[in-house]
Amino acid sequence: MKTKIKGPILTARSFFEYVKMFNLDLDLLKNKNILDCAAGASSFTALMTSKGYKVKALDLLYDKEYQFLKEMCEYHLDVLIKSLSSLKNHFIWDYFKDLDELKKHRLEAQNQFLEDYKIYKGEKYIKANLTDIPFFENKFSLILCSHLLFIYDHRLSYEFHLNSIKEMMRVAEEVRIYPLIKHRAMKSEFIRKIKDDLMDRAEVKIENVDYEFRKGGNQMMNIKKI
Ligand SMILES: C[S@@+](CC[C@H](N)C(=O)[O-])C[C@H]1O[C@@H](n2cnc3c(N)ncnc32)[C@H](O)[C@@H]1O
Repeated sequence: MKTKIKGPILTARSFFEYVKMFNLDLDLLKNKNILDCAAGASSFTALMTSKGYKVKALDLLYDKEYQFLKEMCEYHLDVLIKSLSSLKNHFIWDYFKDLDELKKHRLEAQNQFLEDYKIYKGEKYIKANLTDIPFFENKFSLILCSHLLFIYDHRLSYEFHLNSIKEMMRVAEEVRIYPLIKHRAMKSEFIRKIKDDLMDRAEVKIENVDYEFRKGGNQMMNIKKI
């Protein structure tokens, strides 16, 4: 099996991981419009909407059919587990005890996503590019962006980062981005530049979160328009 994937891998972080990665207080999110960008195969939208919250998800892949995404999820999870087996020391094994537990957790999350996607593709799950979000200004109270920006800063340009963040800020009052590191726990150099470039239009804060799987990955960026 090939063990390298070009571009962002399709991952399925769970609802529980999102709550921790983004310091979410679920009581405060009732009746708020929330958007998960780029949501991949995360179970956040499926779980939240099953509890009555108003959540939509956006990803470049959401024009694909269920079967295509199912096979892609399975393949990418196998590649992920295989590649992590030689990188175990870069991760903290307490939330997940070992690779088997990680695989079980992610499999459960991607199955929850897939079952929901089968029914709500095009309704809750919207195909779009982060730089061109098909919603009007301030439609959302909160956007969550997990594992696309900063972590791939060797592949995605600074211009893409800045344009994506500006576009998310156009459609939401608040944007949270996690994590702020790339491989080997190095902080992305784009963070300081983003803070500088948004200085006149937003309050940008770096906050600690109660989640650290990748070593050093215990912070998120919180952006509020001023
Ligand atoms: C690593 S996954 C993260 C998925 C999910 N947020 C999570 O944390 O498990 C990155 C996702 O970004 C999507 N993606 C990559 N470039 C994108 C873009 N320009 N616009 C929207 N989605 C994009 C990919 O299709 C992939 O599903």
